[in-house]
Amino acid sequence: MSKTYNIAVIPGDGTGPEVVREGIKVLQASSKKNKFSLEMDYFDFGGERFLKTGETLPVNAVEDLKKYDAIYLGAIGHPDVKPGILEKGILLKLRFELDQYINLRPVKLYPGVESPLKEKGPEHIDFVVIRENTEGLYAGAGGVLKKGTPDEVAVQESINTRKGVERCVRFAFEYCRKRNRMKKLTLCGKTNVLTFAFDLWERTFYEVAKEYPDIKADYAHVDAITMWFVKNPEWFDVIVTDNMFGDIITDLGAMIQGGMGIAAGGNINPAGTSMFEPIGGSAPKYRDKNMINPLAAICAAGLMLEQIGQEKAGREIEKAVMDVTSKHIKNLAAGQMGHTTTEVGDLVVENILK
Ligand code: IPM
Ligand code: MN
Repeated sequence: MSKTYNIAVIPGDGTGPEVVREGIKVLQASSKKNKFSLEMDYFDFGGERFLKTGETLPVNAVEDLKKYDAIYLGAIGHPDVKPGILEKGILLKLRFELDQYINLRPVKLYPGVESPLKEKGPEHIDFVVIRENTEGLYAGAGGVLKKGTPDEVAVQESINTRKGVERCVRFAFEYCRKRNRMKKLTLCGKTNVLTFAFDLWERTFYEVAKEYPDIKADYAHVDAITMWFVKNPEWFDVIVTDNMFGDIITDLGAMIQGGMGIAAGGNINPAGTSMFEPIGGSAPKYRDKNMINPLAAICAAGLMLEQIGQEKAGREIEKAVMDVTSKHIKNLAAGQMGHTTTEVGDLVVENILK
């Protein structure tokens, strides 16, 4: 009997539905080839729904989504909705409520892809950022006093719990061991200034490191990390960091791997329902033009298959994408691929089925 996985699909806003469509095409080809089945249920969460109903997520959404093996997400963000509402009400809410405490973002320069780092090739850019995904500055702790007056006070607190930090650090050590590349895990922090938060991170990191003598435990300040990403990206294997720093350094990571068109990520709850997404936004100006690059969404689909237990199928998707970038697509930017969105999806499908 072939195995069946239930996937919740949230195409979302802007170009989300177009890139998800290509991702699903690839998933279907992959499941056919590898003899498993995917049952997809679609959810209309996003800006359009919010504008119609005033609701970001319906009350039972989180409970419903928990029943799925994984969630496949396009993009959230709508030009007619005030920034923050959809991000907080949908994306961050799902990450938090589903306890997806890992945000896993591979930074890998595929063959044939041009990096803005002119002296660096695929042999130099191949690392993974593991971003804590449920705490830190994203926890929403803080408040305002005397808003709108000259005496206004605004406080935004970074929440770091021993349990939250430790489970993230542990995941990173395990991941680094399993990846088996340089066997080096770098903690990205700011111990010289954030002496409460990163003291907890640093102590936890080196305590857990004792259980992983085969992994080299390394540390770098976040500001220095942004410099090394540009100067010596080949130094990195796996990086673990807090929510805010992870958010910032993975946009830089996406740029050195060729741009938002290729950068994918997973919001992972190792014991629950995880959610996979291209990390770029909804790109409203490209919506419905068949110009947007679907490769990030396709790579996210590959990460999803690896997470649900179809490792071989997941790796095959990545291989197919690498083949397509090396032979068919030079520029990953929207409208500059030399192919339409649909054609790029077709190229990946052909490669998988050949
Ligand atoms: C990301 C995004 C989100 C974040 C936004 C849209 C809330 O930038 O996934 O990196 O800050 O986490
Ligand atoms: Mn971000």
